[in-house]
This record gives sequence, C-alpha cells and structure tokens, in this order.
Amino acid sequence: MTPVADAVSALKEEIAHCRRCPLHCAATQAVPGEGPADAAIMLVGEQPGDAEDLAGRPFVGPAGQLLDRALAEAGLDRDRLYLTNAVKHFKYEPRGKRRIHQKPNAGEVQSCKWWLNREIALVRPRLIVALGATAAGALSGRAVSVTKERGPMSFGEAQGFVTVHPSFLLRLPDESAREREYRNFVSDLGRVRKE
Ligand code: URA
Repeated sequence: MTPVADAVSALKEEIAHCRRCPLHCAATQAVPGEGPADAAIMLVGEQPGDAEDLAGRPFVGPAGQLLDRALAEAGLDRDRLYLTNAVKHFKYEPRGKRRIHQKPNAGEVQSCKWWLNREIALVRPRLIVALGATAAGALSGRAVSVTKERGPMSFGEAQGFVTVHPSFLLRLPDESAREREYRNFVSDLGRVRKE
C-alpha cells in the first residue's frame, strides 16, 4: 500500500468510531468512503441509506444501483472513483419494521464535514462531484439550489461539479420525467468524465 492508501485506511478506522454527533446511536455502523486513494474524481452523496448502513459501504442500495448504471453509460468506471457521503451515519425514523430516511440537519452536516475535509485532503481529487443539495451545501459551505446551480462550481480550492442525487430520479412518479432526468444525469456524468 502507498502511504496515502495507508492514511485513508487509518481514516476509515477513525470514522468507524465517530461520536461527533448523535447519529451514531441509532445507526448500525459508520459508512466511510471507498475507492482508490489516488482517484482523480470524488463523488459525494448525502448519507448512507438503509442498505449502506447494513453493508457498511456507500451506494450499494437502489440509488447506488442507479448510479452504477448511469456511470457505466457515461463511460466512468466506478472502481476508479472515490465515493463518499457528506454524512457518514444513516439518519432515519423507525416506522413499523421500516427505517425511513431523514435528511441530516445543518449541525450534523457540519460535524461530519470534519471527515469529508480529511478525505479530500488525502485523496486530493482533480474534481469533486456533489450529488444533490446536501453534498453541494457541505462542500461549498452555503445553501445550493441544484436546479439553479447545476454544473461546474468551485469548492474552496477544489474544482467541483453539482448534479442531482440519484434518489431524486427514483422519486419521480412520472415515467417520462424519470427517463428525461436520467438522460440529463448521464449527460452531466459525461461532462464530469471530460472535465
Ligand atoms: N444515498 C447517498 O447519498 N449515499 C449513499 O451511500 C446511498 C444513498
């Protein structure tokens, strides 16, 4: 392993023990980022979902499967990307046997920014892609409207790009809107590949 890969592994260990906010209490485990420590592109989502919380890996549930399909269509190899989340623990509300996703609040995002900053400092990606408003807000330090600001954006020193979160596509009730938005998402990822 390279020294940076070693440092990323050590960071994952630290994230596993995170107690920076109360979200660790109800979650199964923390979900750190995954991917090569020298990845040129980092993708940042919101927080692990139900499947990710159980697996301990980012983007393995329904949103992750949609992301995988879109990445492949855009010519991006998931194995060469670093995938992580703005918040490392699953926030949910129990409803019967189900665990319903809850959006992390500003304080939780802020507490977890500590880890995201450290992932960015180690991996030093050429481009950081925010999937959705929570990631874009965490990375830019202000509220971001994905509809209005979709596309290139700088995150401090880093070159960034804002696009939708794959869960947004899953929630669209209308089949034709879903297909259209999926095409736009693939087109954004195609731009990311060329940036
Ligand atoms: N949604 C996210 O934002 N991240 C994941 O890892 C899974 C779903």
